[in-house]
Amino acid sequence: MRVLVIGSGAREHALCVALSSDPAVTALACAPGNAGTRAIAEPAAVDAADPVAVAALASSWRADLVVIGPEVPLVAGAADAVREAGIACFGPSEQAAQIEGSKSFAKHVMSAAGVPTARSWPVGGPAELETALDETGAPYVVKDDGLAAGKGVVVTTDRDAAVEHGHRVLEAGGAVLVEEYLDGPEVSLFAVTDGTTVLPLLPAQDHKRRDDGDAGPNTGGMGAYAPLPWAPPGLVDEVLATVLQPTVDEMRRRGEPFSGLLYAGLALTSRGLRVVEFNARFGDPETQVVLPLLETPLGGLLYAAATGTLADHPPLRWRDGAAVTVVIAAPGYPERPRTGDPVTGADAEGVLHAGTTVDAEGTVRSAGGRVLAVTAVGEDLAAARQRAYERVAGVRLADAHWRTDIALAAVEGRITLPAAP
Ligand code: AMP
Ligand code: GLY
Repeated sequence: MRVLVIGSGAREHALCVALSSDPAVTALACAPGNAGTRAIAEPAAVDAADPVAVAALASSWRADLVVIGPEVPLVAGAADAVREAGIACFGPSEQAAQIEGSKSFAKHVMSAAGVPTARSWPVGGPAELETALDETGAPYVVKDDGLAAGKGVVVTTDRDAAVEHGHRVLEAGGAVLVEEYLDGPEVSLFAVTDGTTVLPLLPAQDHKRRDDGDAGPNTGGMGAYAPLPWAPPGLVDEVLATVLQPTVDEMRRRGEPFSGLLYAGLALTSRGLRVVEFNARFGDPETQVVLPLLETPLGGLLYAAATGTLADHPPLRWRDGAAVTVVIAAPGYPERPRTGDPVTGADAEGVLHAGTTVDAEGTVRSAGGRVLAVTAVGEDLAAARQRAYERVAGVRLADAHWRTDIALAAVEGRITLPAAP
């Protein structure tokens, strides 16, 4: 099977690592890819946001399966274009990807499917914004309704900051949602689906804030770990029964079946589990910790989802132990990352490339805000964490920053579930 991965981040590098260890995958390409994917997958140039270009590459490269990593091509219709070219594609249609592309669409689906989520107020203008903030009270949650790479949400007790964010989005022509604040730890649970059958993967946790102790601005994600030693028993079954399966069933009922990766971002609140958001693709950086623990060959799994045969797929197998990934970010990330700096030590084991290129002299250079995702597996979370940070010490990028507390609260048993009121 010839597999083409679309994207250029550490998620795609992790997908390539997993796919390249599947004996059924006979050829692998990653477009546009990065300096890390080049070592294991053929590079090819493509504008990932252009569905026609993605489908043309898939045809000319004679792909049997296309795996689309990021949300932007999905929301633009790349999966539809690939399927129209007669090639199997792992990723939802443009219509179905609205579950990520429009938070208000996701809210409609959840409401119809009876899926628990935060109450929300769509806001059309400044006056409505004030009214909605009065209604929820602090802490305030103000969201850009569209795609914003994890940076469109402000959660704050500072009313002025909440108002300012809302105004900024409205002035930019965007739509705003104000939401009820959800307390409790967050969980990312991915599920592979063909539109009918749903296979959940292992739960993981992201670290969204830039700095240690969950301080600083929201980012695309600064690190992750899996599985979650503190998760209540039966969590995955509960999410499957109350969130994932009803959502997939509702999408099919609406005539917009969702196939690909359904990512549920959840909060385990004092009033029970709630969906914070859905994404229409593998999460980044959680993929970097979930896939190294998956023993089932990835190519066969994604092909089964893409071809509607997941019901016949054997149960997923997982290795024991845990995985941790630490994101090395460029100076200035997330606001104004500096790029073009040389990176050394990035070819070491476990170092996944997030935003890198190779220049004409063969030097690896930073090319994005998140530059590397340094990953390790261990017999438990503490061992994986220690190994990941040992690997972080081996890479060099001038003025880089990373969190030093990825998975630390979980290792120290400091994550607690809020008591029911
Ligand atoms: P989103 O783009 O919707 O995933 O939001 C990004 C991050 O903002 C989430 O991962 C949460 O950490 C936080 N967040 C979003 N919605 C809420 C909410 N209703 N209550 C508390 N935190 C939230
Ligand atoms: N880890 C957050 C995201 O992929 O959206």
